[in-house]
Amino acid sequence: MYWRTEEHHGLRHSPFNALVAPRPVGWISTYGPDGQPNVAPYSFFNAVSYVPPQVMYSVGARPKDAPAPVKDSLANVEATGSFVHNLVTWDLREAMNKTSAECPPDVDEFALAGLTAVAAERVNAPRVAESPVNFECRLLEVIDTKSPDGYTPNRIVLGEVVGIHIDESVIVDGMIDYARTRPVARLGYLADYSDTTEIFRMRRPEWP
Ligand SMILES: Cc1cc2nc3c(=O)[nH]c(=O)nc-3n(C[C@H](O)[C@H](O)[C@H](O)COP(=O)(O)O)c2cc1C
Repeated sequence: MYWRTEEHHGLRHSPFNALVAPRPVGWISTYGPDGQPNVAPYSFFNAVSYVPPQVMYSVGARPKDAPAPVKDSLANVEATGSFVHNLVTWDLREAMNKTSAECPPDVDEFALAGLTAVAAERVNAPRVAESPVNFECRLLEVIDTKSPDGYTPNRIVLGEVVGIHIDESVIVDGMIDYARTRPVARLGYLADYSDTTEIFRMRRPEWP
C-alpha cells in the first residue's frame, strides 16, 4: 500500500504511531501556577543531542472547548522555564499510565498515582523520587509546528539537561544496567507498549 497522508489510510486505525515505534516515554514533571506538582507522559520525546545534552517533547492541543485548552506540561514550562524528565521503568508503568489522565490543572498527578515529588537541584521543577533516573532541564525554546491551514496544533519543547540523578542501584561496573532500568517504550494505537528485555550488540564499522 501507499498512503498519501492527507487522505484516509483505509486501515482500521491510523498506522502512523505504530510505524514510529518503539518510542521512549518522556515522563515530564513541572510545577503549576500555585506550585502544585504536575507529571504526565509524552512519547513524542527524545534526546536530540549529546553535547550539550538536550531533549525535546511535543505537546498536542486539547480540544478548543476543553476547560484548559493548553496541556499543563506546556503552560507550566512556559511559566517556570523548567522541567524534569523521569525514566519510566517496568515497575513504574502503571503509575505513568495514571498520570496521563486528562485532569484539570489543579489536580496533583503525583498524589493521583501515589508518587513522591522532590524538588530538583538546579531547576524549578519537581522530580519523581520513585524513578531511578531524573533529567533536570532548562527550557531553551518552544517551537511551533506548522500545519497547512496555519493552525498550530503541536508545540515542541526543547530543553537543556543541566543535571541528572542516577540511582546507584542501576549502575553496574560503571555502566547503566538495562536489566535494572528496564525502560518501557510506547508502540502504537491505544494501549501498546514494549519492555526492554532482549538486548543485542552491534558495533559500528570502521572506515576505511
Ligand atoms: C504513553 C503516553 C504517551 C503520550 N504522549 C503524548 C505526546 O507525545 N504528546 C501529547 O500531547 N500527549 C501525549 N500523551 C497524552 C498526555 O499524557 C495527556 O494529554 C496528559 O493528560 C497531559 O497532561 P498535562 O496536561 O498534565 O501535561 C501521552 C499519553 C500516554 C499514556
